Amino acid sequence: MTHESGKAQARQAIDLCRELAGFSEEEGRTTRTFLSPPMRGVHRTLTCLMEQSGMSVHVDAIGNLHGLTAAEPAAPHLLIASHLDTVPDAGAFDGVLGVVLGILLARSAALCPSAKLCLHVIGFSEEEGVRYGVPFLGSRALAGSLDALTLDRCDRNGRSVRDAVGDFGLDPSAIPQARLTEKAVAYIEFHIEQGPVLESLNLPVAVVDAIAGQSRIDVLFQGKANHAGTTPMDLRRDALAGAAEWVMRVEAAGRARRGGVATVGRMEISPNATNAVPGRVRASLDVRHTSDEIRRATVAELLSAADEIASRRGLAIHYQQNLDQPAVPMDADLTACLERAVESSGYPVHRMVSGAGHDAMILAPIMPAAMLFLRSPGGISHSPEESVFESDVAAALDVGAQFIRQLERRYA
Ligand code: HGY
Ligand code: MN
Ligand code: MN
Repeated sequence: MTHESGKAQARQAIDLCRELAGFSEEEGRTTRTFLSPPMRGVHRTLTCLMEQSGMSVHVDAIGNLHGLTAAEPAAPHLLIASHLDTVPDAGAFDGVLGVVLGILLARSAALCPSAKLCLHVIGFSEEEGVRYGVPFLGSRALAGSLDALTLDRCDRNGRSVRDAVGDFGLDPSAIPQARLTEKAVAYIEFHIEQGPVLESLNLPVAVVDAIAGQSRIDVLFQGKANHAGTTPMDLRRDALAGAAEWVMRVEAAGRARRGGVATVGRMEISPNATNAVPGRVRASLDVRHTSDEIRRATVAELLSAADEIASRRGLAIHYQQNLDQPAVPMDADLTACLERAVESSGYPVHRMVSGAGHDAMILAPIMPAAMLFLRSPGGISHSPEESVFESDVAAALDVGAQFIRQLERRYA
């Protein structure tokens, strides 16, 4: 690929991601959750690009968008994938960029029907876990690890995952057919780093060694709602004061362990009125670490801290674990291929751990998986300020083309 065409492709990728960010549930900001109506616009736009690129396109029963290049019927599939959903008030590149780069790489590869390798691009329907509190619905269906309990989970409007699939015009009973066949031999995901490391090292890309494990838990503090003006301080059972004390313990636990993080990102307060003592608070807990043992010990410590605070303040505590996702190493051989592709593209090789979760961790247990990070300017993500440099996108396209050529030679 010439330098000029690489730059033009990079420009096209960035412009397309920004266009797709316009498909949102909310006016003026990007929010696109599992199979919400704006996902149709994303599917329409990407289907058009896939078909223009000579790919055959279909949507599976959990709403994943698939584009396949022409190849021999028995040819193995290299999956190039990421997610199409977003967090509320998201940026334009988290997930989507990986799908767009996959399509552009497939178009450049211009494989012929006799090709020995099928480039199988997938846009997952759900990775963030926003609508149902559990992440990775799209990739888990491909891995065959989507259980009935999850499919029966309801969103805040009482619509289950099955309902949402039906509302989108798909057949929930066909979800088991979405499971990948043994044709899928390898997985690669291009994704923004979403942190400050590559910027601090002034590097365009990095090869991911492993993805940190994560725990996601809902913690309910139950006190007693009462009048803010007439209830003496020593007679209160203030759920928010208790939760606030606990949040400081969460922050301290995150600080106390090198390489770990602990976050309370969401709080629902009831009755949420300026003149009422909060009676109930539902708080989210997100704990990450590359060591599953340290992560689980941190969770245990924070749940017993919640119990101690609650008993001292006359509150009741309930919690529900929504995710206990082990840390996942990337495949050594495929990662070595990716490293060679970085080198032969003329970029410095840097390896790092991902603190963010990715669909690669769901596919890695069933096939070799690798990830390439692109620098996040300002280390910003999960924010409208999220961005990428055009030169880094061009670098990722260079590396991706080299990586595909290695895999084509392997399966020729
Ligand atoms: O939360 C995460 O780690 C990812 O952005 N879904
Ligand atoms: Mn994300
Ligand atoms: Mn992501």
